[in-house]
Amino acid sequence: MAYLNGDYLPLEECKVSVLDRGFIFGDAIYELIPVYNSKPFYLEAHLKRLVRSLDQIQISNPHSNDAWKHIISNLIEQSGLTRLSVYLQVTRGVAKRDHAYPANTSPTVFGMTNEWPAVNPDMYKKGLAVVTAEDMRWGRCDIKVTSLLANVMSKQQAVESNTDEVILIRDGYVLEGSATNVFIVKDGQVMSAPKNNLILPGVTRDVVVEILNENNIPLLEQAPTQAQLTDADEVWITSSTKECAPVIIVDGKPVGNGKLGELWGKVFNLYQQRKK
Ligand code: PDD
Repeated sequence: MAYLNGDYLPLEECKVSVLDRGFIFGDAIYELIPVYNSKPFYLEAHLKRLVRSLDQIQISNPHSNDAWKHIISNLIEQSGLTRLSVYLQVTRGVAKRDHAYPANTSPTVFGMTNEWPAVNPDMYKKGLAVVTAEDMRWGRCDIKVTSLLANVMSKQQAVESNTDEVILIRDGYVLEGSATNVFIVKDGQVMSAPKNNLILPGVTRDVVVEILNENNIPLLEQAPTQAQLTDADEVWITSSTKECAPVIIVDGKPVGNGKLGELWGKVFNLYQQRKK
């Protein structure tokens, strides 16, 4: 079952107008919440980011946090799944096509679930390969908007180069991936781009930062240069779907000694404990 504007119905029966601003302008925000053992992981953090995204693009929040939680738990229950993702999207609603925000339009609220296949163990045994590309996105990458064409085009470069992700570089600095945040390690020091308008503040990134802080692992929240990426001992990418995944090849060259990072192993295990 999916959710559309107050109703629970089969996904195929969810229909929205072609004049919906989400369709016409990509005028919409979204969230993706991982669910393990039927329990949403870091739900409060996802809801906080959802509310912030709405606020930033001035869509009035159609629901209280309790109402959002109710929708999420209904979707989980109706999915019949225990390991899944909940996708929520809010658009500015349906209106005659005009760029300016329409008056008196109510937001369209959509939710769906997807089964979450167990993470491919190869990802954690063999590591991932990535390529770098110039970041061609806009200046508000901190808002989780559905207008993701630049991310989509970037990710396609990864697909076409037979790699797993694209790491985006702006003015020589490593910001994040097309759908992941990025960490590098050099001589025991972890580095990751700071949370500002140039990256999405990933919930998984926050979880990893929490793990690093709790274990006194030094973290510098500063964007690494592309040279530092090339020279790193370890590279990790994080997201709700990839969790904390080790990268062993960047632009065809091995990262560090080309093996899974030692520090990554530690953080990965601590992350798995948190899921439990
Ligand atoms: N993407 N950076 C970007 C650009 C992202 O799109 C995502 C997540 C992340 C990681 O955020 P989080 O840890 O909160 O999942 C970073 C989701 C998974 C998606 O678009 O499907």
